[in-house]
Formats: sequence, C-alpha cells, structure tokens
Amino acid sequence: MILFNDFKKKYKIYKKEIDGAINRVLKSGWFVLGNELRSFEENFSKYLGIKYVVGVNSGTDAIFLGLKALGVKDGDEVITVANTAVPTVAAIRMAGGVPVFVDIDEDTMNIDPGLIKKAITKKTKAILPVHLFGYPAEINKILKIARKYKLKIIEDAAQAVGAQFKNRMAGTFGDIGCFSFYPTKNLGAFGDAGAIVTNNKKIADRVRQLRNYGEVSKYNNTIEGVNSRLDEIQAGILNWELQELNQWNKKREKLVKLYINNLQNVSEIKLPIDSDKFHKNVWHLFVVRTKQRKRLQDFLLKNGVQTAIHYPMPIYKQPVYRNFGFSDKDLPKTKKVMSEILSLPLNPELEEKQVNYICDKIKFFYASK
Ligand SMILES: Cc1ncc(COP(=O)(O)O)c(C=O)c1O
Repeated sequence: MILFNDFKKKYKIYKKEIDGAINRVLKSGWFVLGNELRSFEENFSKYLGIKYVVGVNSGTDAIFLGLKALGVKDGDEVITVANTAVPTVAAIRMAGGVPVFVDIDEDTMNIDPGLIKKAITKKTKAILPVHLFGYPAEINKILKIARKYKLKIIEDAAQAVGAQFKNRMAGTFGDIGCFSFYPTKNLGAFGDAGAIVTNNKKIADRVRQLRNYGEVSKYNNTIEGVNSRLDEIQAGILNWELQELNQWNKKREKLVKLYINNLQNVSEIKLPIDSDKFHKNVWHLFVVRTKQRKRLQDFLLKNGVQTAIHYPMPIYKQPVYRNFGFSDKDLPKTKKVMSEILSLPLNPELEEKQVNYICDKIKFFYASK
C-alpha cells in the first residue's frame, strides 16, 4: 500500500537523528521552556527572516493566541476562507471572534482579494488569509486592503513553511504569521507543535506571556493566559528538521514535476497551479481536481494507493459552524472546488517509482472509462 503519509518510514530513515535529538533532551533533564526551544526560536527566525518567533503547543494555538495578542474580542469579525482546515476557524472562535467567509479564486484555491472589501463591516478586526496547500495567497493585495481599512493581518501559514511571495517568506507579511508543526506538515514534529512569528516586539512579548499562564515573570501573572508551550523534545527534533527542510521541500517539488509530467495530458484531471515568478509553492499537498472524485479515489484505493480530501466540506456546512449564516450560494467557487479536490500522496519519503505507479493507475482509470 502506498500510504498518504508514512511516518514509520520517516523514522526508519532518520532514526539516528531523531533518537539523537530525543536523547539529548532526556539527558539534559529539562523538558519545558529550555535551550532547545530557545535555539529553535532563533533558528526559525533566521530561516524566515523575521525578528521574533514564539513556540506554542500547536498551529491552532498559534492562531488563537495570535488573535488574542492582536486584541480580538467577543464578537469581532475575522475574514477568512471556508475551504481551510477546521482549526483555522476553531481558533477564531476560541478567541471569541466571528468567522466571515470570503470566496476563493478557483485557480489558486486561496482567498479572492477582490471579494474582501464587500465583507468588511464595522465589526471587522482582522483578515486571516490561509496559504493553503503550500501556495502563497495574494498577500500584497490583502495588505493594501488591510492598510486602507485599518485591519490586522494574521497569516495562517500552517501549510506553507518555506513558501514565498516575491522572495519573501509566507507568514512574514502580516502583523502575525502562524505555523503548525503537526506531523504531516512540511516541517513536522513527532507530536504537536506550532509557532507565531512577528516583527513586533510587543506582540511577541504578549504571546510569550499568554502561552505561559499569563506570567510576566515567575509567579507574577498580569493577564489571563493558558498553557501552550512547545516542549523541548519536539523543539529538539525541529532543530534538526529545520536543517533538512529546504532539501525536503525540493524533493516534494521534484515529485510534483513528475506528477505534472505524467498527468498533463489527462484532460479529466485539473492540475494545481505551479510556482511562477512571484509565487513559490512548497507543495504541502498535491491537490488535483476531477469530476469523478469518488470513483477515482475508490479505484486508487483498490490498487493500493491511499488518497485524501482536504477538506470534505466547507466549514460553514460543519454542524457546529452552521449558525454563522453562510450557504453555498454565498461561496459558489468554494463549493464547486471542494466537490472536486483530491489529494494524491506527496511527502519527501515517497519514491519516484511510486509516483509513476500512481500516475499509471490514474491514466488507466480514465482510458478504460
Ligand atoms: C491551514 C491550517 N491551519 C491550522 C492548522 C492547525 O494546526 P495544528 O494541527 O498544529 O493545531 C492546520 C493543521 O492542522 C492547518 O492545516
């Protein structure tokens, strides 16, 4: 079976490095808020070219605490998309915010900046663009709107570590950028982890305080906080992984080129857009579109290929989020795109011969229809 993600294989390949990082922490006797996290925060800030990085427990918490640090309060509206992962919206709700969904651009599958203005009301506090699947959103246009209407920007870069817009890293444009190091991510820990990044010292200090019970110094709590710390074992692994990240992203790109070469003449498959002069995709997911999704997915599974759907339904259709007043007619492109998307296996451990096998099966499926 070609698994969608294969973490046993990853561990087998990098056992020495992973065990080494874990053992280093175990031997240090220090497990929370220590040297590994400090050095990861420093290394990651250099990687991104940003002043401050604050490690937290997850990408969800990065968005939640980021919104809190920006002053989002009960009832404040936050503009985002409905084709993102549920945690984007869960985090808005944790901060007391109200999600306002804007439709996407069909090709990029990211927020359509041309539709943002219409969604702004007196209650709007922030725009939360998601760099979905590793492809950077049109952040320059979004920044312009935010400046004009005095709104905050908090980027959900959970899927886009290393992606660039005009040679600058996704996640470093807004007031805050949020990253997830969930195991499936391009920079994936062996457990939960996340980070917020910013060039604003006040915001960084605020999040540092929020992540640690609101302490400004030991046993001196001046705001209400939570416990959301990136632990030393995960930080140790991430310190090693960060050195591999560019190479892993290159491997993803190489596999994507192979997919594209193989599938470009299959007219029933719409391929995702590639990087161009301004947009550098880091290919977190390889998402194709087809009108026969269910049949193709079943056929691939029967032939030993695990695929996935990111995500099966727009967020406004999730039972818990139906009360925000959005329906398919408000977001026709989101609805259409989400009924067609299918994610094919893509990770640095995947082999070229496996990609060729998957493509052969897809071609066979359409040829024998
Ligand atoms: C777009 C997006 N936002 C937020 C998150 C939340 O990250 P985490 O799972 O680390 O909480 C994820 C990943 O799960 C994601 O893909």
